[in-house]
Order: sequence, then structure tokens, then C-alpha cells
Amino acid sequence: MITLGEGRTPLLAAPRLSDRFGVELWLKWEGANPTGSFKDRGMSVAVTRAVERGITRIVCASTGNTAASCAAYAARAGIEALIVVAAGGAASSKLVQVRAVGGRIVEVDGSFSDAYRKAEELASEPGSLLVNSTNPDRIEGQMSAAAEIVEQLGSAPDVLTLPYGGGGNTKAYARGFDAAAGALPRFHPVESASRADTVASAIRIVEPIHHAEVAAAVERSGGSVLTVSDDELLHAWELLRTLEGVFSEPASAAGIAGLERGSARAGERVVCVVTGHGLKDPAAIDRLDR
Ligand code: F0G
Repeated sequence: MITLGEGRTPLLAAPRLSDRFGVELWLKWEGANPTGSFKDRGMSVAVTRAVERGITRIVCASTGNTAASCAAYAARAGIEALIVVAAGGAASSKLVQVRAVGGRIVEVDGSFSDAYRKAEELASEPGSLLVNSTNPDRIEGQMSAAAEIVEQLGSAPDVLTLPYGGGGNTKAYARGFDAAAGALPRFHPVESASRADTVASAIRIVEPIHHAEVAAAVERSGGSVLTVSDDELLHAWELLRTLEGVFSEPASAAGIAGLERGSARAGERVVCVVTGHGLKDPAAIDRLDR
């Protein structure tokens, strides 16, 4: 088992935000994972299975968090990590995480989709494997978060809200709640209105690859996808930091922006997935024009 101690993250009560929204709000604090994001859950499973199969090089395209996780688990397994990023597309601290553990970074001009195509090409070489969320082992590992929430609360919540980039995490939560609770909370994934150039670099993805599964899960759960502006994201991020002391990266506060939009009704029990640590993108604080 290739593990760095991922998962088993805290489910934090959020009393001040609960008061603000008139709900019972819990924060699933995924910044507490070993490399600072939820990606570690799936990377542990994907790299364990890859090593079993004799893979010697894992490849991914990333906005930064998958990159940091891929490089760390590759180091742990004693195999190579090759990371493809869109030039300027990942926060510098995430690339530091990659370099620190010996991962190699390839920059491509263009968008995340261009980086993904390049990663697919590099992963087609013998002994190589793509570890993006299109790898089913990644989704399998990320399902564990839903099971933990059911265990921590004693049942599934009424509402689940989380950021929506490529949609792999939403898909994993849907499968996870199906497996652990036999039913879905109402799903409200929150995406940026400016997917191509949002300030929340982690979710700067124009074409969400899991779009169909996200739409199906949202519909089945009676929820909706919410689309918010960068101003709404930054405001939600500030609420999370200053009212609860939970310092996430900007993208990770998207679920709170969904609550500001009224996605939960009075008294409902809500879990907001806070996907990554604030130290992932410290420059985001400096960029605030105040
Ligand atoms: N939050 C953070 C902090 C992320 O890094 C990502 C995705 C998401 C939310 C969205 O999750 O794509 O499963 O809907 N980051 C990927 C990466 C794209 O390369 O690190 P999703």
C-alpha cells in the first residue's frame, strides 16, 4: 500500500457560518491531507495499483493539486512523476511541492485541455500510466470521503456542496454516498462563471471531463449546479477564513459561495467540502486589492 496517511480528515462544526446561513453547517477539511488537498485519497489507490502492475512512471495534467499529490506518491513508491501544466496555470507553491519531492514538470502553451492531451500522449509510452481522474482508481479512492462523512455524522447530510472543476470529485461523492448511505444528499456543485480565467486557479478548467456524470448525480439528488462570479468566490473565501479560521485556497470556498446563493433551506444539515489548504496559494491573499 502506497500511503502517506491520507484521509480520516476532520469534519468541523462551523457555528458562525451556520448562524449566518440558518443551517447546521459542517466543513469536511480536506486541506488536512498529506499534500494539502483531497487528491491524496485517490492518488494513494491509483499509485498502489500502478505499482502492482509494474508501472514505473505516472503522468498527469494538472492545475496544481493533482500535480503535488502525484509527485509525492511517486516519490513514496520509488517511481517517476511527470507533470504537465498549462504555462502560468498552477500556483507556484504547488509546483514547489512537485520539485521538492523530485517530480518533473512540463509546461505547455494553452489551456488545461491542451495539457491533458499532452499528458495522454506521454502516458501512452510503455511503463507509463495516466493518473488524472479519468483513471478509475482515483475515483475509487476519493469515494472514501463520503463514507467518512456518513460515519462522522451518523447519517448522510441533507445537502452537499463542493467546488466543481472537472467533476471527478462530485462523481466520487455520488458513488461514495450511494455505497455508504444508499441515497444522495442534495448535491450543489459550484463552478466558476469564468472557467477559462477564474482567480481560483485550481478550477480553471473550460471543459469538465465528467460533465455527464455530474449532471446525472445532481439531477438524481434534486440539486443543481451553481455558477458564481469571482467576486462571489472571493467573498465566500473571506467568510470561511475570517469567521471560522479555516484558511483554504480560493477555489475550496466555492461551496460557501453556493450557500450565499441560498442553496440550503433553514435548519438543513449541510456538508461543505473544503478541498485544499490556503498555503497552496499564499499569493492569493496578496492579490486582494485592499
Ligand atoms: N478544489 C481544488 C482545490 C482542486 O484542486 C480541484 C481540482 C477541485 C476543487 C475540483 O475538483 O476537478 O474533481 O471537480 N483540481 C485538479 C488538479 C483539476 O489538477 O489539481 P474536480
